Amino acid sequence: MEFARVLGRRRDVHFYCPWQPVEVEKVQKVLEAARLASRAMNVAFFKAIVVLREQLSRADRDALKTPFARHQFDLAPVVILWYHDMDAGPTDFADRRWPAVPSGAVYDALALPPLLGWSDRYVSEVVLPEVLGPAWSRGRRPGGNADVGVAIGQAVLCAVDQGLGTALAPFSEEAARTLFGVPDGWEAVAAQFLGYPLEDWEGIGQRAGEQPGPKVFEGDARTPFPFDEDHRELLRAAGMLTASDSAPWREEELAYLGRLIDETSGPAPGGGAEEEEH
Ligand SMILES: Cc1cc2nc3c(=O)[nH]c(=O)nc-3n(C[C@H](O)[C@H](O)[C@H](O)COP(=O)(O)O)c2cc1C
Repeated sequence: MEFARVLGRRRDVHFYCPWQPVEVEKVQKVLEAARLASRAMNVAFFKAIVVLREQLSRADRDALKTPFARHQFDLAPVVILWYHDMDAGPTDFADRRWPAVPSGAVYDALALPPLLGWSDRYVSEVVLPEVLGPAWSRGRRPGGNADVGVAIGQAVLCAVDQGLGTALAPFSEEAARTLFGVPDGWEAVAAQFLGYPLEDWEGIGQRAGEQPGPKVFEGDARTPFPFDEDHRELLRAAGMLTASDSAPWREEELAYLGRLIDETSGPAPGGGAEEEEH
């Protein structure tokens, strides 16, 4: 799919066909997309656990739910639990596995070329002992990590590119720890649901970032960036900007989907099968 169309088609999908498995190649491609993401120092900060719905009992699925995400765990055939490995940097540092440097890859690959001031000596005498070592010796630093976010972003877009529905939501860190033997140093970031969508992406409309008020500025923190409406037309033509209104039949679609959820997960708290907004 054209990249602009992938961006234009992505929505938070809440309803999945539980009966239609996701091909293992598609899951692998999503994981490879995450692996290829940019990351500081080439350290793999993310860890991921791929969980198949069929491996979980009803009680397991219930345990993973949070107030923000319930039926996704019942419907999605695949859930990827994304973690930030708070020990990844220090471990690579301690093991001298930091790829671009002690291994000599810095010269072999010329990824960090001497032209830019990189050398074995600079790394072993300055970067490692004076910058990274002290930072990592202060212990684990929870609170998410940009590298993991970038990796998940690529995983989400890769799923859409393959015709899958996908969405992110929190999961019960405690339950996952018990069910899957998660190490202490892994901080839960998000569950990514994967599956063939049961709802039509055109029914939902493009909602992301719709809140009023400028969010991007130019030159200072007060002057709104001048987004050009003519250029927006081009993005519309390319499929990146799509209709933001829900389709007229969306309510009816939700009514049908609600019945399915009642059967699969039981009624939503509050009586309806409606989805929370975040
Ligand atoms: C880190 C993260 C956590 C999210 N958590 C939830 C959630 O708990 N439940 C949910 O329904 N949606 C969740 N979302 C999805 C957002 O609500 C959704 O992306 C946003 O409303 C924009 O809609 P769109 O994705 O359809 O464009 C989450 C998204 C992100 C990136």
